[in-house]
Amino acid sequence: MWLLDSGIGGLTIARAIRRRLPGLVQHYMADHAAFPYGGLASESLVARVCDLVTRAVAAHPVDAVVIACNTASTVVLPALRARLSIPVVGVVPAIRPAAAASTSGVIGVLATPGTVKSVHVATLIERFAGDCRVVKVGAPGLAALAEQYWRDGTLDTDALARELSPLQAPEWHALDQLVLGCTHYPLLQEAIAAMVGAHVTLVDSGDAVARRLEDVLGDASLKQGDSGGGRFYTTGGPMEDAGLAARIRAEGFRAMLVGEPAPV
Ligand code: DGL
Repeated sequence: MWLLDSGIGGLTIARAIRRRLPGLVQHYMADHAAFPYGGLASESLVARVCDLVTRAVAAHPVDAVVIACNTASTVVLPALRARLSIPVVGVVPAIRPAAAASTSGVIGVLATPGTVKSVHVATLIERFAGDCRVVKVGAPGLAALAEQYWRDGTLDTDALARELSPLQAPEWHALDQLVLGCTHYPLLQEAIAAMVGAHVTLVDSGDAVARRLEDVLGDASLKQGDSGGGRFYTTGGPMEDAGLAARIRAEGFRAMLVGEPAPV
C-alpha cells in the first residue's frame, strides 16, 4: 500500500494501519517539497497529488492507496480514483463520532485553513453535526509545529497557544469534543490536550482509516509483507538529514530516500 501526506503527519495513519494490519507493506510518500498543503489552491493540489501518486504506483505497484492527509482528501479523491484502478482510501475529519459522543452539543474542528473552508467539511457538519454548535478553527501553522516536534522534540508553546486561541473564546467554553482534522495533529496530542483542558476529548481518524482499508483490501490485507517493511520517500526539503533516517526506521520503514521512487 502507498500512503501520501504533505509531510510526516501521515505517520499517525501509518501507525494505526500497522496496529491493525501488521503484515501489510507500507510505502510512504512525504511531499515535503510542497509542504504545507493547507495553503495550496485546490487545482494545484489535485494536479500535484494525482501526478505524484500515479508515478509512485507505477514504480512500486500496490493493492491500495491511502491519502493520509485531510487537506488533500477533501479535494483530490474523485480525480485520483478516476486515474487509478486500485482502491483509494481518504481521511475524513472525525466529525460524525465527535458529534455522537458530545454531551454538551458543542464540538470543535481543528484543521488546516484549506480543510475548514472545504465544501466537504461543511457537508459533514450538516449531515452529522446538525444538532451541535461547531467551532471551525483553520490553524495556519500547526502542522509545521508538529513537523518540528517530531523532528527534534522542540515545541514553541506560545505559537501553539496562538493556533488554539479561537477555542478559548467564552462562547465555546462548553466544548467537549475536538476533532483533530489534520493527520499531523495527533503528534501534538499531549500538548494540545494540556492546553484545551481535560474536559475536552480529542478525536482523530487513524483507527477509522485502518478499518476502512481492511474492508477494501479484503484478503489482500492478510498478505504478509517482507520483513524489513516498505520505503519512506520524501520529495525533499527538511528531511535531508541523515539523523532522521533512524527515526523513520523506528516507525517501521526499511529506508528513507529523497526523491521519487524509481521503477524496480
Ligand atoms: N497532514 C495534512 C492534513 O491532514 C496537511 C498538513 C499541511 O500540509 O498543511 O491535512
